[in-house]
Amino acid sequence: MNPAQTADKQYRRLLGHPPTGVWSAPGRVNLIGEHTDYNDGLVLPFALPHRIAVAASRREDGLLAVTTVGSDHNAQRAAPVAVADLEPGLVTGWAAFPAGVAWALRTAGVAEGGADLVISGDVPAGAGLSSSHALQCAVALALLGLAGITPDESASPTLAEIARWVQRSENDFVGAPTGLLDQTASLCCERSHALFLDVRSGEREQVPFDAGADGLEVLVVDTRAKHSLADSAYGERRRGCERAAGLLGVPALRDVPAEGLAEALAALPGDLRPLVRHVVTENARVLAVVDRLRAGDLVATGEHLTASHVSLRDDYRVSCVELDVAVEAALGSGALGARMTGGGFGGSAIALVPTDRSAAVREAVRTAFAGAGLTAPRLFTAAPSAGAHRDR
Ligand code: GLA
Repeated sequence: MNPAQTADKQYRRLLGHPPTGVWSAPGRVNLIGEHTDYNDGLVLPFALPHRIAVAASRREDGLLAVTTVGSDHNAQRAAPVAVADLEPGLVTGWAAFPAGVAWALRTAGVAEGGADLVISGDVPAGAGLSSSHALQCAVALALLGLAGITPDESASPTLAEIARWVQRSENDFVGAPTGLLDQTASLCCERSHALFLDVRSGEREQVPFDAGADGLEVLVVDTRAKHSLADSAYGERRRGCERAAGLLGVPALRDVPAEGLAEALAALPGDLRPLVRHVVTENARVLAVVDRLRAGDLVATGEHLTASHVSLRDDYRVSCVELDVAVEAALGSGALGARMTGGGFGGSAIALVPTDRSAAVREAVRTAFAGAGLTAPRLFTAAPSAGAHRDR
């Protein structure tokens, strides 16, 4: 049973009637373009086959009543809250994610009614694969759907507007200063494609990415690590980038051209130079990978993925031992390229692997983790899958 079917079934069991509809949204991996989104830069994510689904109906009393159902079918019910009363700080823990979306949609004046939501999904939580954004995007589509609103690129609200509301929920209600990568990926990705997004202009291109057809696969290594630095370091890096842009007199690091990098670095204090070097070279690597994908040369993307990891490890300093072990073991056993994906300090790495090397790479990664005394990682391959939609 897929998450949409589970959410539907659990809704009927818990509420005793069918939901008005079921909506779902995927987790993501970012193929390349890391820590570039909040610098107005370029990203290239694709959607995972793993999704979070929300079965939903309107409530006439204005309350938001949310229940999540785990894989063990245990239901966890958040205390119902009046949508009209939602303010940042009122709801904490996991329930802040759906509540934040209801708050963002209410304050945007697009959807204000109460709702019963039953949530189920299979995006690994805490793995840096954007399970929280999958949840928020599915809730956004569900609440909009209940208000009679279906996203449509020719009229408001567009997927890009919905992504910004979800970002507002995350930034101002949940309290995480993240960029636009994850929401846009969850909402806009398409099957067999990576999404090339220019965060500043909002321009999107679906770039064909079908590794399987080329005898390759993307192996995801969930390291099962999350270091306590993750949240504070994210904000620090972000502030460092903003400070560097200010000193360089540009709106964002996106505006530092690759040809002007040496000059820009010379004008900055030593602690900011590696941050700027990462962001500028990472944007260039995104362009290089998009170029190779358009040319159908997937093999040549590998070196850029690895260069991205080195830059995140040495310049941006957001890697950790688990991610480095995963990347080195994959590269040492036949991967064409490998890198951490997402914010860093734990979470997941990806490796581009020839299918006939898949078993050897998995074995090498497991052995390397055991040898380093680390918790066994979770490994799976991921084909680019569909973005958020209504299931029924
Ligand atoms: C997290 C954030 C994104 C992005 C990445 C790093 O996933 O949610 O906005 O900044 O880290 O690329």
